[in-house]
Parts: sequence; structure tokens; C-alpha cells
Amino acid sequence: MRIGLATDEITYDEILLYSASESLDVKMDFIDLKNLFMKSSENIYEKIVKEHDLVMMVNRAISKNLRERSTEVFERAGLKVLNPYMVEYISNDKFRTKEAFRKFNLETVRYILLPDFPFSRRREDGRLRFHREKAKAIAKTIAREIGFPAVIKPIGGSRGKSICLIEGENDFLEKCFRYYKLYVNDWSERKIPEALHQCVSNPIGVFAEEFIPHPLDLRVIVSMRRGESPQYIGCLGRVGRKEEEIAKNTALGSIPIGIDLPEEYRRIAVDCVKAIVNYAKSFGYLVDYCLVGVDIIPRCDSFLERRRVYEAARKISPFKDKYIEQVKTQLNKAIRKLASKHGRNLDAYTKDKDFKDVDNSLIEVFRKYREMEEYKNLVKASEEYLNVSKPEPNEVNTRVDYGINTRNAACIDIPYHIVHVMSSISEHI
Ligand SMILES: Nc1ncnc2c1ncn2[C@@H]1O[C@H](COP(=O)(O)OP(=O)(O)OP(=O)(O)O)[C@@H](O)[C@H]1O
Ligand SMILES: [Mg+2]
Repeated sequence: MRIGLATDEITYDEILLYSASESLDVKMDFIDLKNLFMKSSENIYEKIVKEHDLVMMVNRAISKNLRERSTEVFERAGLKVLNPYMVEYISNDKFRTKEAFRKFNLETVRYILLPDFPFSRRREDGRLRFHREKAKAIAKTIAREIGFPAVIKPIGGSRGKSICLIEGENDFLEKCFRYYKLYVNDWSERKIPEALHQCVSNPIGVFAEEFIPHPLDLRVIVSMRRGESPQYIGCLGRVGRKEEEIAKNTALGSIPIGIDLPEEYRRIAVDCVKAIVNYAKSFGYLVDYCLVGVDIIPRCDSFLERRRVYEAARKISPFKDKYIEQVKTQLNKAIRKLASKHGRNLDAYTKDKDFKDVDNSLIEVFRKYREMEEYKNLVKASEEYLNVSKPEPNEVNTRVDYGINTRNAACIDIPYHIVHVMSSISEHI
């Protein structure tokens, strides 16, 4: 079987996927989406499919918009794509995902999408302007529909960027004003969270939902092979060190751990995928395979229970911050070097000695980490916490990161599962 591996940027994950597929006896053809888009006027997608004689594609584009759009076009050119277009379409939007959950009877927190922003763009110079009256009205609506504390976030955001806790109507106004003051200093839009103004990751308006107290967030990997129901594969926990860190993404420094997930959580993760599949079906689109990360937030209102997890996390954090971060820095450097040495030739990447060395160092540092008493205690505290918490389905990720944390802390071999899902498709072609 011939599988295309499409992406806009080669990261560690793509190198691992490419190399693992070789050892699983499946040859992947690298498809450079950056290059394709520049030539799109020639209907280059169909040409690529024919040239490479492809029947399937794994789409790993980092840009959600590019991933969604290119998957749509590849499907139209006759390819089976992981993940399928409607899975991308639903999951790339946090509001739509929750709508899918709710429509298929999964309990979620209250959420609201207001088609307005407290900041808008001036036509004259493109700069953002703050509207106090609009901000007041938005805060009032959040108070009425959601209550406080609430969280606002961009509906198409990722990596925990721009997740803001709002504690009351005044707090919303004060925060808006504070961001505005920082912004007018140098006109850098990064000073105003994307949750508050119109941008690519947040095109419609303010998205707000109930605040969920939690010391860790769960990334649950679920796959669906053609002709079968969704299956639970494994779970990565991302643990915060203190309550003030609202977003528990590993990109923001949370601590990765492997979790033996309780049955109830597994069932909910599988139901989330069923909800996405059924939602797609309600538009007449059949999803019969996928591989996604379902994010579930374990809620517990008792601070004492949460504190036990934070305390355990703080004990392992010196090792994580020093040794794991050190290897991650080396890894990023090695990947940048690979790119300048070998361009986009993935074959050369996987054979590069420097890359192999740093890859082995990463595996080794995580092996030490998993053997530490502090790590085992954190896993124990987190698993005990799950027994007293309530699962809140949050979102679905179609491009799961795996090379660093999922592979080495949760010990899940995502490339194996990708190839497995792909082979179930090939049996039906
Ligand atoms: N309603 C909420 N209450 C409390 N914390 C939240 C809430 N929603 C999200 N968070 C925290 O913020 C983190 C990031 O939020 P979310 O997962 O919705 O977006 P994202 O991580 O930016 O998107 P992606 O997972 O696609 O990269 C979550 O992992 C969770 O720790
Ligand atoms: Mg998330």
C-alpha cells in the first residue's frame, strides 16, 4: 500500500512516523504541502495523487486551516485521508465540537459563543481599538449565561494559548483595559489575547465556558479502524504545578505522565468519538476510521484533593525542568540542523547519526524519569484523584503530538496505530 505523509513542517513526530512506517514495511511518500499550495492553480493535488500512485494520506499539517483545506481537496481527488475531512472540520472548532458532544447526549460544561468582541480593528490603520460599552455588554452576557468564574478561549486555538480566566464582570473589564494599555505601548497584538479580538484562530466572537477546577488534563488516544467501533488506546496526563496555571498543556510546561484510565473515563472518550462520527453523519458524511486525542478535564471542586496532585507534581518538576528540557532543547537544535543539511529529504533524516544520538538520549532520560519514586508518586496521586473527579469532555485533537510525551511518558506507539488504521482502510480498497 502507498501512503502519503503530508505536512507543512517536518517535526520530530513526522521523522518518527516516517522511520517507524519503514520498519513496519510500509513506505510513506513525503508530500510537501508548502510546495503544493504554491502551485495549486494547476490542480496539483490530483497530479500528486496520480504521480505517487497514492490511495491514502496521513495529513500532519500543523496549521489547522491548511490541514482541513488540504484534506478536503485530497478527498475530492479520491484519497482516503487520516483524519477524514469532517473529523477535522468538527474538531478544529471548540464550539462545534461541544455542539457535537451535546447533540449526542454527552454532558458538557455550559458554553456560549457571542458574535462580538471587546476589541475591533480600525479601518484607517488596522490597529485594535477597545470598546468599553461592548466589553460591558459581553461581560453581562457571560454573567447571565455562564456565571463566574468563566474561561474564554479562541475557538480555533491550540497549545493552551490565550486561555483566560475571568472572575467577574469587573475582572473582564479590568483585564481588557490592562491588555489595551500594554498594547498601545508598542502596538504588538500579542499583548491582547486572541480570545478577545477577531483573528484566524478566533473568527466569530468571544467563546466562554464554565471554569473547571482541575490539577491535570487528560489526553485520551482513541482510534477507529474501518468496520469497527472506536477503541481506547491509552492516556497521557498533563499535570500542573499550581492552581494559578489555568491551562495544563505540556507546551506551557505541565508535567507529562502515563495514566491507567478508569473505565468510566475510557467510555466517555470513546463516546466523544462516536459523537463526532454521528455529528458528521447528520450532515450525510460517513466517518469510518480516525485516530484522535480526546481531551477530558477531570473536575473536582475540593481544593484539598487538587492540592495533593500539585504537591506531588512539584516534587518531580526539578528533574523534568532540568534533564527533560535539556534534551528537548538539543532535539530542537538537531532538527533545525537536519533541515539545513538535508532539506526536505526525510530518508536522510532518519539515517542521520546526530539525530539518532539525540533520539536515544530522549528515550533514556524518560526511562530514568519513569523509574523515579517522585514520578510513581505523581502517577499514584493523579490516579487517586481521578477516582474522586468528574470527567468533563473538552475537545478533540486531530493532529496528536506524540514523539516526546505520548511516546515516552504514556508509552503509546502512535505510528504503529496510524499504520494499523491505514491497513484497515487498505483492506477495503
Ligand atoms: N473551561 C475550562 N476551565 C478550566 N480550565 C480549562 C477550561 N478549558 C480549558 N482549560 C485548560 O486550558 C487548557 C487548554 O484548553 P483547550 O484544550 O480547550 O485548548 P488548547 O489546548 O489551546 O487546544 P489544543 O488542545 O487543540 O492544543 C486545557 O488543557 C485545560 O487545562
Ligand atoms: Mg487542549
